[in-house]
Amino acid sequence: MKKILNFVLNGQPYEVAVKPKTTLIELIREEIGLTGPKIGCNEGACGACTVLVDGKAVYSCSVLALQVEGKHVETVESLAEGEKLHPLQEAFLDDGGYQCGFCTPGMLMAAKSLLNENPDPTKHEIRHAITGNLCRCTGYVRIVDSIYDAAQRMKHEGGKES
Ligand code: FES
Ligand code: FES
Repeated sequence: MKKILNFVLNGQPYEVAVKPKTTLIELIREEIGLTGPKIGCNEGACGACTVLVDGKAVYSCSVLALQVEGKHVETVESLAEGEKLHPLQEAFLDDGGYQCGFCTPGMLMAAKSLLNENPDPTKHEIRHAITGNLCRCTGYVRIVDSIYDAAQRMKHEGGKES
């Protein structure tokens, strides 16, 4: 029997009826229709499905939709503001942080989670933060460089505002 779930997705409140066994990735992709988060392994091992729940990275294939009752969920679709890309997206583009792009939505959200907690990470800290996100293409060096670059850009932008 379906239950009513209230949560916020990318800033927008949702009230949806979901089956108890529906996972968060199924809700986001199949019922709400946001296809940014990807399904790779579907068993908590690859990170392609990474989204933020209350600012922290989680594997949305390993969370039941009903577990996000009252919480704020962010997908990769939340990063850009209209035409303006997030500094993480700009840095991935400029620094070659992706090749096929399948891991990229999850990688970006893992990076966002890190930068939420630690706006000035070392490359070692970045490597540690993305250990749960697998990439078959890049060898990770450019991903780490992109996240590091994004942090520098965000620091610079923050400095301009103050
Ligand atoms: S699809 Fe969720 S961790 Fe692989
Ligand atoms: S860019 Fe292809 S899996 Fe990471």
